[in-house]
Amino acid sequence: MVKLNSCVFISGAGTNLKALIRSSREYNFPIDIKLVVSNKKSAPGLIYAKKFSIPIKIINIKDSLFEIKILREIKKHNIKLICLAGYMKILSNFFIKNFKGKIINIHPSLLPKYKGVNTFSRILKNKERFTGCTVHFVNEKLDSGKIILKKKFKISNNETIESLKKRTQNIEYRAFSEAITKLYRMI
Ligand code: GRF
Repeated sequence: MVKLNSCVFISGAGTNLKALIRSSREYNFPIDIKLVVSNKKSAPGLIYAKKFSIPIKIINIKDSLFEIKILREIKKHNIKLICLAGYMKILSNFFIKNFKGKIINIHPSLLPKYKGVNTFSRILKNKERFTGCTVHFVNEKLDSGKIILKKKFKISNNETIESLKKRTQNIEYRAFSEAITKLYRMI
């Protein structure tokens, strides 16, 4: 099958990147990861890109031209889909307009609830009974683009921030790949 060239943006551990790489190696998964972008040279997740020989681009966000440089790189690799996987920098309207409808993000809550950061502590504080993760398109408003897929689970009584994070991330790995498969069917 002809796969879409994709790029994954990370800033940290990259466990979602690892899961996406694994999915992308299956013959019927619709994307191939051709580039990994990180705003941090020290992002531990870069190890997965190295292991699978995927080109890496480190972008210093202090550079005023950083988004133009990313766009240039993305064009060079003929990228058709950008997956944000723990990329901790908000993309500008300029960038999003240039790639409209082709950027997706994974967020550790059931959107539209708990947009932004510190989701786990806020979820526990509010004594929610359920939580989960959401894969959505990226638009100009934070965590507000059209939802592609959500996955939900029940919060247990003795849940901590750490356990919630672990449980959420475990469902994220499947959710991200499933959302991409669903997206491809929609195109
Ligand atoms: C994920 O939990 C995702 O929901 C959030 O950032 C985290 C990234 O984790 N956007 P990792 O770097 O993929 O391990």
